[in-house]
Amino acid sequence: MRLLRLYIHNSGVFKNTLIDFTHNGEPQNLICLAGVNGSGKTTVMELIFNLINFINPDLSLQNISFDRLRANVLTWTEFAQLDILIKDKVLSLVLGDLNNIQIHSEYIGKQGFIIENEIKTMIKDFEDNFVKIPEDYDHSQIQGLNIYQETIGLQLVKSFSERKIDYKEGKITNDIQQNIPFIYFFNSHDREIQDIHYSSIPQQKLKYEIAHRYNPNKDDLTRTLVFYDYALSKKFNELKAWINKHVLVGKTIKEIDRINFQVVIETKDGEKHGLELLSSGEESLLIIATQLYLRASQNAIFLIDEVDQSLHPEFQEQVMRLLKQLQKDTDCQIIISSHSEIIWDQFKDKGFISLTELVI
Ligand SMILES: Nc1ncnc2c1ncn2[C@@H]1O[C@H](COP(=O)(O)OP(=O)(O)O)[C@@H](O)[C@H]1O
Ligand SMILES: [Mg+2]
Repeated sequence: MRLLRLYIHNSGVFKNTLIDFTHNGEPQNLICLAGVNGSGKTTVMELIFNLINFINPDLSLQNISFDRLRANVLTWTEFAQLDILIKDKVLSLVLGDLNNIQIHSEYIGKQGFIIENEIKTMIKDFEDNFVKIPEDYDHSQIQGLNIYQETIGLQLVKSFSERKIDYKEGKITNDIQQNIPFIYFFNSHDREIQDIHYSSIPQQKLKYEIAHRYNPNKDDLTRTLVFYDYALSKKFNELKAWINKHVLVGKTIKEIDRINFQVVIETKDGEKHGLELLSSGEESLLIIATQLYLRASQNAIFLIDEVDQSLHPEFQEQVMRLLKQLQKDTDCQIIISSHSEIIWDQFKDKGFISLTELVI
């Protein structure tokens, strides 16, 4: 599964733009979106994430991102088309006017479309008319509003799943159904360990969803590791071995202290401490590595916005090493964004997309 191309008409800085993720027509495994601040890196990632969600037939309000400050990217995009290669077929996810659709001559008879026009108005209506409450907000504090929002939510969920989608050139084929993409998005904030206290091991929801966004509360690192050690110990041991080999330098994950809800880190001098004493760069590396490793597969596409955030130059090289290793071990596709030259230098001619140049 590989992203091939993204066409955009009128979305923020993009007027009429083709972002080509291939190199000489070949899909790429690891891609870097480069560009100065405001060149559209986050916009591209948000577009990819939201368009892939179109595959979900039961798309509901919960699957659509509502940021506290930023309007959903679909509402301010006139037209977008994301082409994904699935085995030897192309699935095109389209927002907006049918007349703008791009057909690939090399995929005649092998290109299918999901075309969505109503979702924009639905999201916009919601954004314009209702108070947005962050997912992690303590709902008990706003009881009246909570009930009100739930009532509204129920109505909206219904209309979302009844939204009209056009399928061009046949329905989603079997191939695509069996190889449903899985997309995971790290936004540029929140990549640090939260101060969360537990009295028992919380159960992780292992439900499959097409599009996930990293959530520092739900995907909290200690909780994830303690849970895997407890419930999925084989996978945990694989993860631990992988992390100790490819991620941490001069220290290892030693064990899980389940009673005290601690992940025990051992330094090369034999000192032991918990996760909270790691540096913020180490935290960030460990969070990225853990979440990706647990989800990586041939069908997985990962988006990491501002991958260098809070990373010292040496750690920037380390994160690139671990992403390359993970890509090789699992055959996933990874798309990062960065304005660090240390990261850019890791890409020679392949997989490097300069948005600054595309937008001018
Ligand atoms: N709701 C919006 N409507 C129109 N344009 C927007 C909206 N949100 C962002 N933009 C434009 O898109 C530009 C690129 O933003 P962004 O993708 O966040 O850049 P980057 O991640 O590269 O720093 C912003 O500078 C802004 O001009
Ligand atoms: Mg950004």
